[in-house]
Amino acid sequence: MKSLVPMTEHAALLPLDHDARARSAFAFTLRNLVTSRLMPGTRIVYDRRAAARFTAEKGRAPQSPDDIRAAMDADPWYRFYLSARRASQELIWQGLVAAAEAAPPPSPPPPAGGSLVLDPEVEAPAYVDAIDIHCMPGGYLQDRGPDDLGAGRIYDRGVHVYMSGLMGPANDAVGRLAARFLATRLPHFRPGRILDMGCGVGHATLPWAEVWPDAELHGIDVGAALLRYAHLRAESLGVPVHFRQANAEATPYPDGHFDLVTSSIVLHETSSRGLPRILAESRRLLAPGGVMLHVDQPRFEDDDPWATFLQENETHYNNEPFWRRYRRADLEALARDAGFTEVELATLSADVVRQSQNNAPDDPRAKSRGFLALLAVAP
Ligand SMILES: C[S@@+](CC[C@H](N)C(=O)[O-])C[C@H]1O[C@@H](n2cnc3c(N)ncnc32)[C@H](O)[C@@H]1O
Repeated sequence: MKSLVPMTEHAALLPLDHDARARSAFAFTLRNLVTSRLMPGTRIVYDRRAAARFTAEKGRAPQSPDDIRAAMDADPWYRFYLSARRASQELIWQGLVAAAEAAPPPSPPPPAGGSLVLDPEVEAPAYVDAIDIHCMPGGYLQDRGPDDLGAGRIYDRGVHVYMSGLMGPANDAVGRLAARFLATRLPHFRPGRILDMGCGVGHATLPWAEVWPDAELHGIDVGAALLRYAHLRAESLGVPVHFRQANAEATPYPDGHFDLVTSSIVLHETSSRGLPRILAESRRLLAPGGVMLHVDQPRFEDDDPWATFLQENETHYNNEPFWRRYRRADLEALARDAGFTEVELATLSADVVRQSQNNAPDDPRAKSRGFLALLAVAP
């Protein structure tokens, strides 16, 4: 039986007692069972009965992801798979919520030189506020008072189980991938100031300090409890980061303040109104010659309809309302509309992103395509 790799210890990490560990281990095992045993069966029932039933009813074979969904929706195996998948997702969070409520406050780590500025006047956009994204109870914004770390503590541990530990002990695989990609793609680039938008608990913020240790590192998010956790985590790991509560659509920084504006797995959670605003804000914040790098899920266009159908379950059954639209968006055109002229899309491929969510590692038909990087240089 697989077991979860231990997480990197730091001052803010949610301590788990025996029961909480057992709950987490159960959620992890169930999730693996769902992806490695139940998920491959969905293709078998599609090939053996659901596609034929669709063809008999409609007089044509299913072609698009929506056709496949129509063919599969009533299939009992598929419904069982969906229910088990949703239950495993909810169990991941539930065990952690109980642990976070019981956990003592952490001891403050020795200062590393970073800072935290919270601003209760910041209004979170509806796409963050209105729904508990990927079923995390209370969502990103839950904040129970000036010392609350709950959302951060739950998110950090939860992501680790959710991704079956594939993001590494510090959940930072995407950030490391992005930082290494940019350092290789632009070997002469030396950013003085870096901004990570939608930094959450800082998983993808800290890796920039490994590549450019002399850069001043900033992270913004709308979630106060996430940022408190991010600050403690970064200080405890010895990385100076300046965290601030701000909306990435309209930040308080002056024009041209940064040399690099980046984000990791944020854009797919923003609305079709929010996304262009974040790109326009990235453009405004960049000094001439500055670089924008947003890294997120790849487009659906090259996927086969089966893989797209499975991936779209995130929107249908995992509280990811914008996932489906984001993965069809023309990011290059959106970046040009935001005022960038040099725009490039690159695939950051890595085995680390053979995701636990929909892509069973054992099923070669459900391929992971890594992450997509939207790279642009400010004129
Ligand atoms: C999936 S999490 C990713 C967190 C982090 N970037 C990472 O790689 O782990 C998305 C984050 O984006 C934040 N977010 C979404 N829209 C935002 C906005 N308009 N302004 C600031 N933060 C935003 C959410 O609060 C959440 O913390």
